[in-house]
Amino acid sequence: MAVNFLFLIVLLLIHHLPLRTLGHNTNFQSLNSLLSLQGLSKGHTAKDIPNLKHYLKRFGYLNNYDETTLNNNNNQKDYFDDALESAVKLYQKNYNLNVTGKLDSATIKQMSLPRCGVPDNVQYVIPGAKWPPNKYHLTYAFNSSKQPALPPEDVRTTVAFAFTLWARNSVFTFQEVDLGQPHDLVLGFHQGYHGDNGPFDGPYGVLAHATPPTEGILHYDVEEYFSISDPAGAGKIDFLWVSMHEIGHLLGMGHSLDPLAVMYATVTPGMSRKNLNADDVAGIHTLYLTP
Ligand SMILES: *[C@@H]1O[C@H](CO)[C@@H](O)[C@H](O)[C@H]1NC(C)=O
Ligand SMILES: *[C@@H]1O[C@H](CO)[C@@H](O)[C@H](O)[C@H]1NC(C)=O
Ligand SMILES: [Zn+2]
Ligand SMILES: [Zn+2]
Repeated sequence: MAVNFLFLIVLLLIHHLPLRTLGHNTNFQSLNSLLSLQGLSKGHTAKDIPNLKHYLKRFGYLNNYDETTLNNNNNQKDYFDDALESAVKLYQKNYNLNVTGKLDSATIKQMSLPRCGVPDNVQYVIPGAKWPPNKYHLTYAFNSSKQPALPPEDVRTTVAFAFTLWARNSVFTFQEVDLGQPHDLVLGFHQGYHGDNGPFDGPYGVLAHATPPTEGILHYDVEEYFSISDPAGAGKIDFLWVSMHEIGHLLGMGHSLDPLAVMYATVTPGMSRKNLNADDVAGIHTLYLTP
């Protein structure tokens, strides 16, 4: 871990207030505008470069970039500088792309995929936030400010199944309780700004986010085209996949670099996942000893 004051601040923020670090809204419009950046590399200037800087900062690749101080200096903001090149290389390394620092089509395509709102832990190590042994039986309740298009029974059954898949491979057991009962975890659907500085962005872009132990908060973007069909269907987002992924964060898992892991940061529209993979299981075993 980089022992440096700024990184330490980032790390503490992530640890205690993870959703506060997500920054401003990245709407899907701005993800689409990344398409115009294809072919650019260090030394270029382009009006959509601030969107790229925002994207890389939001997801953990450009932590020293301060959007507010650069707001009045368009030249600098629009300029593809050394720091941006390093961030692009780090992103490419993380996603198994050619590490060129250049915005080739594979890099832009990867950045345009819908993904989890939790940053990739590339520039710092997330402290191993864990549930204590007296908290291996976790209760959860639903509290949504918006109702999703999916029928409530489908939501409950799918979420219960996602918890079961983690329970089968870990020390944990889970139980749904009414919102009025004491609970360790709270799950809900929300739209746009919903009180935690990780505002949602409508269809695609960011799909959901969740906090590490022991905060226990999981939010879904109500505007996603969630599906419980297998396969999900054209343009649809598999609700089981997203649920398994976000529950992984609730238990303390970070993002995996294995594209086949449920804990990989992106979700492919139309595709579904029915279970954790070996990398996910190895991860939860590393975090908590299995019985
Ligand atoms: C990496 O570069 C090689 C050679 O230019 C190319 O054939 C390959 O498709 C590239 N891979 C990706 C993921 O862009
Ligand atoms: C449910 O969420 C709302 C905000 O959306 C909050 O005001 C309320 O306290 C929550 N209810 C419980 C029981 O936690
Ligand atoms: Zn995630
Ligand atoms: Zn939220």
